[in-house]
Amino acid sequence: MDLKWLLVRRITLVALACFLTGAAVALYVTAREAKQQNLELVELAGRQLDLQLSRIDRSTDIPKRFPDWDLVTSYSLRPGQCVAYRGTDETLQRSSCAGVDAAATSAPWWFFEVYRSFINDRLTAVRPLSYRGANQGTIVAAHDPVATAGQAWATIAPLLGLSAALVAALCFVTYFVVDRALLPAKDILSGLNRLAGGDLACRLPAFRLAEYNRIGEVFNALAKDLSKATSERVELARRLVDTQEQERRHIARELHDEIAQRLAALNALAASIRTGAMRNAPGIADEARELEKMASDLMISLRRTLTYLRPQEIDDLGLIQSLKALVEQHNKDAQGRTNYSIKTAGDVEHLRAETSAHVYRIVQEALTNASRHANARNVAVLLRKQAGIGQERIHLSVVDDGAGPSPVDKPSILSGAGLIGMRERVVALSGTFTAGPLPAGGFGLQVEFPTLQGGA
Ligand SMILES: Nc1ncnc2c1ncn2[C@@H]1O[C@H](COP(=O)(O)OP(=O)(O)OP(=O)(O)O)[C@@H](O)[C@H]1O
Ligand SMILES: [Mg+2]
Repeated sequence: MDLKWLLVRRITLVALACFLTGAAVALYVTAREAKQQNLELVELAGRQLDLQLSRIDRSTDIPKRFPDWDLVTSYSLRPGQCVAYRGTDETLQRSSCAGVDAAATSAPWWFFEVYRSFINDRLTAVRPLSYRGANQGTIVAAHDPVATAGQAWATIAPLLGLSAALVAALCFVTYFVVDRALLPAKDILSGLNRLAGGDLACRLPAFRLAEYNRIGEVFNALAKDLSKATSERVELARRLVDTQEQERRHIARELHDEIAQRLAALNALAASIRTGAMRNAPGIADEARELEKMASDLMISLRRTLTYLRPQEIDDLGLIQSLKALVEQHNKDAQGRTNYSIKTAGDVEHLRAETSAHVYRIVQEALTNASRHANARNVAVLLRKQAGIGQERIHLSVVDDGAGPSPVDKPSILSGAGLIGMRERVVALSGTFTAGPLPAGGFGLQVEFPTLQGGA
């Protein structure tokens, strides 16, 4: 629930409770006064009638004059107050009431009804009359409910008006004060949303209220830590894939410089032994030929491994040429069934060695996939480098017009190691990777990642 309305509701309830308590106290005081007046009246009137009875007993008065009502009404009745004498048979013998100005003491009907039902009847005072142990009737004093309800209403009405005005003012002030006080909460919420959306540079401003300010400080510290941890993680992931490429490059160089050279020497030696043996010792010529063949097989297999580890062309010819060579190799293998093509834009030649290797690996796997799964007429590679926000970015797409992935053979395209490996590599480079069937048919792969500072 909205905090403003919650507070307004609570304040109204508390004010209503206060008003009801105040009204109950005011009613209680008014009722106690009225009861006291009735008690005093019956007591005074009763004493006068007791005296008259004793005079009658002493024959200084005559019974016919009982009750002497002038004696009773000599006490001034308050407005709305009534006094009555009931005989021994409970019949009303005499009664008098003081009039009220009904217009001046009018109360709303609902209040009048409530007052009459619950309060007025309890205000009646009764005093029995007896002389020498004999019952002589009763004196009853009561208030006209119109008068007492009017008086009680006159006491409560200003209280009600004042309370209503006070509650309205309090609610109004509370609503606007709370509304203003909650404004920073909106900023905090939008900051949290931005942070959840990946905007780690988001910071909260300083707030006037100390509590919000503290929240803002904690938020900013957390965002800073998160940003630092994220950039460290991104850097670590990038270093991992870069190191992997460096390691492969290093192993390839070692293999090339050491083993390949020695194999070449071994091959040459075997060839020389074979030539010499053919003349001087024909018995070992066949073994020398065998040795020569083994050395040359090993060299072919080593060259294949070297190409897998790090195509020599990237270092020798540069990225574009090695990609073109890759495409040409596929064209040759396809024997005209599929046309592989490549286009580049921007300066993609002078990328870092690791970045070039990443691009090469992705294109290599995408082309292998196209030749294995697509059965396409055309496969197009587009590689470009574009200026991005703060950093330049590599955009790479490999699109074919083949049959697309077969849902029967493999329900998920992420079931092989190729696409998963590509995606992991791109994610480690803080880039984005999408691959899947195209709406117009065929298969498409889109990759985009930032080239790093320190010389593309
Ligand atoms: N160009 C494409 N055309 C059609 N389907 C493709 C294409 N590229 C990938 N796929 C689908 O995506 C699946 C996953 O490809 P991925 O490269 O991950 O694995 P793979 O090629 O099957 O095996 P490997 O682990 O040897 O690469 C493929 O099996 C294939 O169904
Ligand atoms: Mg594959």
